[in-house]
Amino acid sequence: MDTRLKHIASLASMQADYTVVDCGCDHGKVLYKLLIDNPDCKAIAIDKSAPSLDKARKLLESFEDRATFFCSDGITCLGDKTYDVLIISGMGGHNIIDILSDGKAKFDKIILSPHTNVDLIRQWLIDNNYFISSDSVIQCKKKKYAIIVTHKHSEEICQP
Ligand SMILES: C[S@@+](CC[C@H](N)C(=O)[O-])C[C@H]1O[C@@H](n2cnc3c(N)ncnc32)[C@H](O)[C@@H]1O
Repeated sequence: MDTRLKHIASLASMQADYTVVDCGCDHGKVLYKLLIDNPDCKAIAIDKSAPSLDKARKLLESFEDRATFFCSDGITCLGDKTYDVLIISGMGGHNIIDILSDGKAKFDKIILSPHTNVDLIRQWLIDNNYFISSDSVIQCKKKKYAIIVTHKHSEEICQP
């Protein structure tokens, strides 16, 4: 597992019982690390590609009781419930914005690692009432990756 994915897993990790959603989970490696390190963690793996989701299913098969799988485009499959953590990593900025715009679910913490259009995501978050708690860059195999940690304000903030 590379440094980027390990870093994302460490940002997603929490103390007590918590549920992490990984949209675009592909191989499922981040969820695997979280499940193995945290016995109180539950995972929801989402991917729009059935073969990708099958990879995650296979990797996480020993966590059958703590992992749920959805073959879905984005997070609409989650309905409008509240979850602890959402990870969306390894996709383009436009795709991430579409996923966040279309979803109705709420999250205490959202970790985004876009491969393109990072500035567009930052602006979209600001325009849509999100608070950016951390915005960093990690180097992995000579490439640099942006990692943004954010959450939506519970009340509408007035923009000047
Ligand atoms: C390059 S992989 C990234 C995998 C992993 N998240 C990472 O950061 O290494 C992108 C994955 O996102 C999935 N994906 C892309 N758009 C999606 C969407 N709108 N909803 C769900 N999954 C999506 C793709 O099928 C693919 O498995």
